Amino acid sequence: MLDSIDEWGPEKVVCVSDRRTGMRGVLVIDNTARGMGKGGTRMSPTVSTTEVMRLARNMTWKWAGVDLFYGGAKAGIRADPHTSDKEQVLRAFARALHNEVPKEYVFGLDVGLTEDDAAILEDEIGGRGGAVGTPYALGGLPYDQLGVTGYGVAETVDAAAQYIGRDTASLTVSIQGFGAVGAATARRLADLGATIVAISTSQGGLHNPDGLDVEQLLKERDRHGDALVNHYSAAKPIACGEEITVPADVLVPAALQDVIDDHMARALPAAIVVEGANLPSSPSAQEILRERGVLVVPDFIANAGGVVAAAVAMDSRTSGMRPDTASVFTNISTKLRAGTHDALEMSARDGVTTHQAARHAAQLRVAEAMALRGRLPR
Ligand SMILES: NC(=O)c1ccc[n+]([C@@H]2O[C@H](COP(=O)([O-])OP(=O)(O)OC[C@H]3O[C@@H](n4cnc5c(N)ncnc54)[C@H](O)[C@@H]3O)[C@@H](O)[C@H]2O)c1
Repeated sequence: MLDSIDEWGPEKVVCVSDRRTGMRGVLVIDNTARGMGKGGTRMSPTVSTTEVMRLARNMTWKWAGVDLFYGGAKAGIRADPHTSDKEQVLRAFARALHNEVPKEYVFGLDVGLTEDDAAILEDEIGGRGGAVGTPYALGGLPYDQLGVTGYGVAETVDAAAQYIGRDTASLTVSIQGFGAVGAATARRLADLGATIVAISTSQGGLHNPDGLDVEQLLKERDRHGDALVNHYSAAKPIACGEEITVPADVLVPAALQDVIDDHMARALPAAIVVEGANLPSSPSAQEILRERGVLVVPDFIANAGGVVAAAVAMDSRTSGMRPDTASVFTNISTKLRAGTHDALEMSARDGVTTHQAARHAAQLRVAEAMALRGRLPR
């Protein structure tokens, strides 16, 4: 772990465990030059310290990329999110981090955690300060329920389409994952007139070149969760992974990390890839896509709708007023469209990938803050 510390961080890594519940978890605070560490809390049976460190670093770039004043951080709990003693595991995790939360870190939503889980974490810490993404009934901003991240992903699809002179209403789209991000992306893109030709969940995929009925899919998701793919007949069933290579103008990976490797980067037919998931592509795959002329909107811009909402939710922890959700959507649209345009422009101008271009811009901001705080060697 010590070998992976570089000039940006991480500043702090806290591993915790609890014998009674079997809870094991980790908090990584990557870089706080622009503000306290903030990033979601993930629960998965396979989560590792390395994975959480990568995600925390991505948060450093995400906050700086959209010019919001928080630092990169992320937390992970190694457990099955469907475990019957989830509440006890969450409470044990919160208790173990009482030195850090809420002063240095505030819990948030990521894969495996829901608004109700955020409420438990907040309760265990006490007061209203320990978590964001809590339910509306607690004065929170339930951003998965509102679909803020997917809304932002769809806005960046629209911005990328505009950049190449395409109308979103003429685009076909394939979406990997139909969870909080994937489903909300589909809803907003359907509103913008796009045709969703394929989706997938962990249970399989659906493909219809004439378009899927998004309203129907959302209803089946409410009823059956990931098994929705078994309850929709107007499409051909496809295996997990096939949604990446079905013919579509736009591919939105919105499920897993590391799904676009060099092989996939050469094979995928889309002209635009918008990264709804965190870390879905490798640096070499990004380079192959650039060489092929495929426009890529990097994860830390495309899915930054969540951080815009989280920034508003952070403020509302200390307010008796409900957060203004309408302004959250407006802010997401403005910030993410600008970020997409800048990344595409810089990439074209400098002959680098959009990831490199956008990361460089974010790094300049973080480096300036580190210098101003006297954190760099003199
Ligand atoms: N929720 C947010 O606000 C948010 C914000 C930023 C980034 N992200 C990132 O977006 C991604 C998805 O997050 P989420 O909150 O939507 O999670 P989620 O748990 O709500 O949904 C994940 C979806 O991926 C599907 N999936 C799992 N394995 C699959 C496979 N092999 N093939 C196809 N689909 C598969 C699941 O069935 C589910 O539909 C993650 O990388 C997460 O870090 C989420």
